[in-house]
Amino acid sequence: MRFDGPKHPARSTHDDWKPRLAERKKELKPERLAEIREALGQKSIALIGLMGAGKTAVGRRLANRLELVFTDVDDEIELAAGKCIREIFAEHGEAYFRQGERKVIARLLENGPQVLATGGGAYMNAETRTNIGKHGISIWLKAELPILLNRVRRRDHRPLLATGEPEKVMRALMQERYPVYAQADITVESRDVPHEVVVSEVLEALSRKLGCPTKPAPSPGRHKRR
Ligand code: S3P
Repeated sequence: MRFDGPKHPARSTHDDWKPRLAERKKELKPERLAEIREALGQKSIALIGLMGAGKTAVGRRLANRLELVFTDVDDEIELAAGKCIREIFAEHGEAYFRQGERKVIARLLENGPQVLATGGGAYMNAETRTNIGKHGISIWLKAELPILLNRVRRRDHRPLLATGEPEKVMRALMQERYPVYAQADITVESRDVPHEVVVSEVLEALSRKLGCPTKPAPSPGRHKRR
């Protein structure tokens, strides 16, 4: 082991998130989270983005920070259908799945506030986009292809990826969907950093978008004596 390296070694990009995370954790005090919740009112937060963008992982943590209910739309569809998504696609086809997806999202959106992780194709439906616009705030977790591929290759439950070579399928989906995802209210980059980093960036972006006042913290001991 060498301990005599350069005095200021170039920090690896992997470490870059560490000071930023510490910084963000400091910023996001409970009162700021409460401001976001208050500004949301009955609206839901809908996470959108391609398969592997981290919608479920980020959504769960985001809901936890905001003390809101978290729902994964795919789980709800499976519950309603009594079968898994792969079975729905195989037995009834994609169009049937999309119909169920649209209905389930419309139903869920009536019960805000909450955090919803939608499936990658959900926001492509115009009715769903309108519904999310009315009852929620949309957040696109945007990710580069290598990140997405790396994540989706770990599991094989996604029927669309079984239709061809995953890289080709994902490239085609990016081309088709990214211009539509770009209509989201907020875009946050999902990348190879701990999910908490992305969650903090989502919270910052939400706070700005919702016009949260970010009240200055009261400074103790500076009241005038009477
Ligand atoms: C799909 C994405 C999946 C799931 C279904 C179709 C899509 O959800 O809804 O397999 O069209 O991109 P995730 O994005 O959560 O993997």
